[in-house]
Amino acid sequence: MTKIRLNTTRFLLIATLFLGSFISNKAFGQDGKALFSQNCASCHAINKDLTGPALKDVESRWSSKELLVTWIRNWNAAVATGDPYAVKMKDWSPAAMNTFPSLSDADVDAILGYIKTASAAPAPVPGAAVEGAPAAEGDSTLVFGILTLVLAVIALILLQVNSNLKKLSDEKEGVVSLEPVPFWRNKTYIAMLTVVLFVVGGYLTSKGAIALGRSKDYQPEQPIYYSHKVHAGVNQINCLYCHGGAAEGKHANIPSVNVCMNCHMAINEYNGEKLYDADGKEIDGTAEIQKLYKYAGYEQGKPWDPSKAKPIEWIKIHNLPDHVYFNHAQHVVAGKVACQTCHGEIQNMGEVYQFSDLSMGWCVNCHRETKVQFKDNGFYSIYEKYHNDIKSGKMDAVTVEKIGGTECQKCHY
Ligand code: HEC
Ligand code: HEC
Ligand code: HEC
Ligand code: HEC
Ligand code: HEC
Ligand code: HEC
Repeated sequence: MTKIRLNTTRFLLIATLFLGSFISNKAFGQDGKALFSQNCASCHAINKDLTGPALKDVESRWSSKELLVTWIRNWNAAVATGDPYAVKMKDWSPAAMNTFPSLSDADVDAILGYIKTASAAPAPVPGAAVEGAPAAEGDSTLVFGILTLVLAVIALILLQVNSNLKKLSDEKEGVVSLEPVPFWRNKTYIAMLTVVLFVVGGYLTSKGAIALGRSKDYQPEQPIYYSHKVHAGVNQINCLYCHGGAAEGKHANIPSVNVCMNCHMAINEYNGEKLYDADGKEIDGTAEIQKLYKYAGYEQGKPWDPSKAKPIEWIKIHNLPDHVYFNHAQHVVAGKVACQTCHGEIQNMGEVYQFSDLSMGWCVNCHRETKVQFKDNGFYSIYEKYHNDIKSGKMDAVTVEKIGGTECQKCHY
């Protein structure tokens, strides 16, 4: 009898664990949308060309799915097959796609599944939620967490029923049994609970500690509702017109009131598409331009005296700790990295939010994966050896890591 009981216990435990791990595997391993946001969204959108081409209905453009999967893992390998589409695709942009050797078959499948579903959905209406915004993580995790919990509770109840039945049958057969231990004093249950609490607590604590001081998704309310979508998106004003510092040195700079007034002496009202803030409240663009005039000390109809202007106190969104050295020009000019790769689709944002977490892992991973653009790039003439190795075919590309991009002192003062 005890033997049978032991086996049921073991079976139930194993079943719960198995189900739990199966479910969490599904939640963490194959969520196509999350994988896409993490790995691809910095360069690709479904309906629009970014650094890489729009991926709407991409499967239909490739001669076979295998070749497409090969491309996603390592585009060099797909080009090497000589497939004309892959060879042509290689030159779509001067930028090169990353390689993703660590994505499993299931991962790639999940990503392609997501692309397919998203292709079928109608193109986003302008003004609707920002495309490429970080996917809300955690909601599916929560559901699966609850499911696992429910299964665990059922397992406990079954165990309890089982032991009660045993007691009944023992009584019937006249076997004297020891007073059963109530489950809250049962050592096995206490041990199991302790282990679970320890693992969950440890995970949450270390995750929280690492994220201290980081502010991904930070989106403060600014003194003026200034929309990048209106300026950089609809009106196609070049980022460098206002953030010229990004091409010249360390800081990208925020433009002064004078830069705004170059245009807004003439543009005194807003007649574009309706504007909404992050809470969905409608914004009156013309009233916001009046706020700008207040800062500028400008009264319509009178000549403007720039010396009366006071600076607009924009709230800084991106902020690295002081011990980190980051240089925009090094990335934008020498590295030819698009602003959007690090900052997301700013030209679609009503209000700017922080797209990347700016963690050390984020910097280092990109340096490991990104190839330096050697060809016709004067910045790299010093790396004579690498140039020769590439020419002689000893090496097919040089990553930022190879030129020292993961050495501590390059990023830390
Ligand atoms: C660093 C930017 C970057 C990232 C990240 C990136 N790609 Fe690309 N991708 C490109 C570029 C650029 C091209 C065009 C080829 C070229 O010019 O080399 C491309 C081309 C493609 C193509 C061919 C498109 C077509 O129209 O046939 C597919 C498919 C693709 N990428 C899928 C992905 C997937 C899936 C991911 C994420 C796992 C991803 N890419 C991540 C930059 C990127
Ligand atoms: C007409 C001027 C103008 C143009 C053009 C412009 N910006 Fe901005 N940008 C601003 C102003 C003003 C702010 C500060 C207010 C805010 O955060 O929204 C800002 C803020 C930002 C920030 C956040 C800065 C912080 O506080 O951390 C980023 C990132 C940014 N811009 C990137 C871009 C990119 C990328 C483009 C091109 C697609 C662009 N901007 C085009 C004026 C401009
Ligand atoms: C190169 C010209 C140009 C510059 C520089 C410029 N704007 Fe604009 N701005 C425009 C245009 C064009 C519109 C849209 C007008 C319309 O659609 O009716 C606009 C609209 C606006 C609006 C109303 C829509 C919204 O985004 O809320 C505000 C407020 C505004 N600008 C503030 C600013 C501020 C602040 C600066 C300086 C950081 C600035 N602009 C710099 C051209 C410019
Ligand atoms: C390689 C990633 C990367 C690229 C590419 C990049 N940025 Fe940044 N950007 C950052 C980081 C990191 C910060 C935070 C810097 C800090 O706190 O010192 C930042 C900060 C900013 C700021 C806030 C002001 C400042 O300099 O601290 C603006 C504005 C900005 N970036 C605009 C741009 C524009 C415009 C482009 C394209 C021309 C661009 N960035 C390209 C990573 C990048
Ligand atoms: C999207 C990819 C990307 C991200 C993210 C990125 N970098 Fe880079 N980084 C590059 C590329 C490409 C180069 C090569 C340009 C060059 O050689 O100057 C580079 C070069 C550098 C260099 C010069 C390395 C050398 O050996 O000369 C430093 C320092 C650096 N990055 C710091 C950072 C820091 C700090 C961060 C994070 C806050 C960061 N990078 C995030 C792509 C990236
Ligand atoms: C490509 C740039 C880069 C390189 C290379 C780099 N770091 Fe960092 N490091 C960062 C950034 C960015 C942060 C800030 C992370 C944050 O704010 O969360 C950081 C933070 C740290 C911190 C503070 C703890 C933390 O996570 O905030 C320590 C310690 C550190 N780095 C040590 C090192 C050591 C040791 C090396 C060499 C093995 C190294 N770093 C190489 C970019 C880099």
